[in-house]
Amino acid sequence: MNILGIESSCDECSAAVVVDGKKVLSNVVATQIAIHQPFMGVVPEIASRTHVEWIKGVVRTSLEEAGCTLKDIDGIAVTAKPGLVGSLLVGVNYAKSLAYAADIPYVGIDHIFAHIHAAHVEYDIQYPYIALLVSGGHTLIAVMEDYDKMNVMGTTIDDACGEAFDKIAKFYGWGYPGGIIIDRMAQKGDVNAFSFPDPSLHKGEHKYDVSYSGLKTAVINQLHQFQNDGYEATPENIAASFQKAAIDMLIRRVKKACRDSGLNTIVTGGGVAANSYLRKSLTELKDTTVYIPSMKLCGDNGAMVAGLGYHFLKDGMRSDLSLNAMSKVMAFHRSYP
Ligand code: KG4
Ligand code: ZN
Repeated sequence: MNILGIESSCDECSAAVVVDGKKVLSNVVATQIAIHQPFMGVVPEIASRTHVEWIKGVVRTSLEEAGCTLKDIDGIAVTAKPGLVGSLLVGVNYAKSLAYAADIPYVGIDHIFAHIHAAHVEYDIQYPYIALLVSGGHTLIAVMEDYDKMNVMGTTIDDACGEAFDKIAKFYGWGYPGGIIIDRMAQKGDVNAFSFPDPSLHKGEHKYDVSYSGLKTAVINQLHQFQNDGYEATPENIAASFQKAAIDMLIRRVKKACRDSGLNTIVTGGGVAANSYLRKSLTELKDTTVYIPSMKLCGDNGAMVAGLGYHFLKDGMRSDLSLNAMSKVMAFHRSYP
């Protein structure tokens, strides 16, 4: 089955054609980073207007690069939640119109499930496993039982991991978006310059949860309290020590999730899965099989949407024309818009 995947939940306008959830014929990602850069963050109104202008060209290019026309497409998958509602609506309505006009089945997809599914496009992965989703909007650790069945073990109780990277880079004026900038700066810094504490959330119901608000405050307002003797507070040292604290927090929780669930396969996804220190730390885990998507499939992209959409469509799931965009996810279990 040739599936056209459409993704417009935030500031990337993307469309891809993927065969049987595996073979990526095209994956066009048009990023709005330069447009939002002056504001050091995504401006929702500008994002949705830009999607309106770009979506037709992005979808057309994805079909052209795949060597297809709409006649060759067997199904359309579109991100319907969660995300910026104005941005989501552009993709949802475009997909709906295409599906209606060309009489092609279509299905609304959950962005979180799509990120986790990204690695499946490139690798053959057996369920169940521990998923680590780390993006600008979400951070969660879950047992994935199937492509549409997730049991959430832990989430962030405040900021998402990528959000913490972005906010710290914004505060220090290092640039936007902060994740990739901090990752690069960290390579020239010393992780031992600051010893930022792990949040004390381990007990009771917070066994697998993370929190970034305390770490963010420490990095922004309490640097001197955590600075080790003999180290300078250079931007590179701050970046390296923060990155280590932010990622080590995740690794500790994921290791615990594996131990407690008896699962020894980890699949990661989301924009922060592009982080070099996270990739290295996961790869170094002992007695664990780890799947990390290639860089192109970490951030928002249509291929992961098409990859997941294939399974829903193959199993006969369809959305009807009443499908709406939702900014938030209400329940994590058996999520299917
Ligand atoms: O998945 P994504 O493209 O969009 C959301 O669904 O949120 O993730 C974007 C997030 C941003 O916060 C960005 O700063 C972060 O991913 N990011 C990174 C890296 N590349 C992107 N964070 C840390 N290190 C990176 N190399
Ligand atoms: Zn995303």
